[in-house]
Amino acid sequence: MLPHSSAGGAGPPDPPARGWRSWFDAWVESAYGADGFWRVHSPDAHFRTAAASGPMIAQMLAAVVDRHDEIAHVVDIGAGNGRLLEELAAIRPDLQLLGVDLRKRPNGLAAEVGWAQDLWDVRYGCWTSGEAGAALAQPEPVLIICCEWLDDLPCPVVTRHADGWREVVINDDGMEQAGPRLESEQLAWVDRWWPGGDRAEIGLTRDRAWVELIKMILKRGGCALMIDYGHTAGRRPVAGSLAAYRDGRALDPVPGSTVNLTAHVAVDAVRAAGEEAGATTAFCGLQSEVVPELLQPESHPDPLVDLEQRSHHSALSSQYVWGSHWWLLQC
Ligand SMILES: C[S@@+](CC[C@H](N)C(=O)[O-])C[C@H]1O[C@@H](n2cnc3c(N)ncnc32)[C@H](O)[C@@H]1O
Repeated sequence: MLPHSSAGGAGPPDPPARGWRSWFDAWVESAYGADGFWRVHSPDAHFRTAAASGPMIAQMLAAVVDRHDEIAHVVDIGAGNGRLLEELAAIRPDLQLLGVDLRKRPNGLAAEVGWAQDLWDVRYGCWTSGEAGAALAQPEPVLIICCEWLDDLPCPVVTRHADGWREVVINDDGMEQAGPRLESEQLAWVDRWWPGGDRAEIGLTRDRAWVELIKMILKRGGCALMIDYGHTAGRRPVAGSLAAYRDGRALDPVPGSTVNLTAHVAVDAVRAAGEEAGATTAFCGLQSEVVPELLQPESHPDPLVDLEQRSHHSALSSQYVWGSHWWLLQC
């Protein structure tokens, strides 16, 4: 953890000197600035996600779609290299598939997978280029998925000071201090969802993004599925969950475009936001619970392939690998 020069102290914090900015502003710039992390880096160059690691997440999604006869469209938000949709196309070639990402269409992506290049703007809660909005505004029922997308959406980082919650500000040297008091909406969020702890991430940007997807579902029919790192009330990390990764390694979270900044999703807050927008929760729980239901283990005659399949299957349900991912399915 970085040094906190005045967070948590007894007296009111000094006003931040010039050159300081909120963690939120720093995170947005680090991720989406002209040379921001996601502008120049491909996810698969830095980490192995469950969705991009083999066909089994696609098999589970196919099982979800099989339970909803009305769904013939699947949209993957934050689709990365598009591999998940390619795997799904191989299993269900009848589906209309669309990837949405701020990245341009990946080279060599299978022709049956459509693509919309668009940035979800976390400040204003809207798509930027219009491509995603246009592509999503179809009338047919759809399964909208976001795998490891919400955790990447920047959010304000706050610290509990003697006089209440304050936003954390940071300078270019990575020094932090307590900044301004929270706006009323942020304060209401943290009081409701993160009442304990010393430090937190305000998940409003994630809640808003999710509600936008739910609005599509309410118009078109179908379901929205989040698969992501998360926590729920009573199990929030006391010091927050802001983290940074590069080349598969965890590093100190400091602003900059060389690291992927991320924070776990407050899953219960996202769930409530979806329900308050009109959705019904079909499932909210850990991936380890859904794997046995959606993925039947199959043996393969080639022992090496068989071993690989078994190990991938175990990784998807192991709490030490991807089994601790949250699944939130709202319809
Ligand atoms: C961690 S990767 C996950 C990729 C893929 N879903 C997977 O599970 O392998 C996050 C993806 O979301 C995209 N992304 C992040 N923030 C975004 C935003 N605000 N709007 C659109 N795409 C975004 C990134 O470009 C990246 O491809």
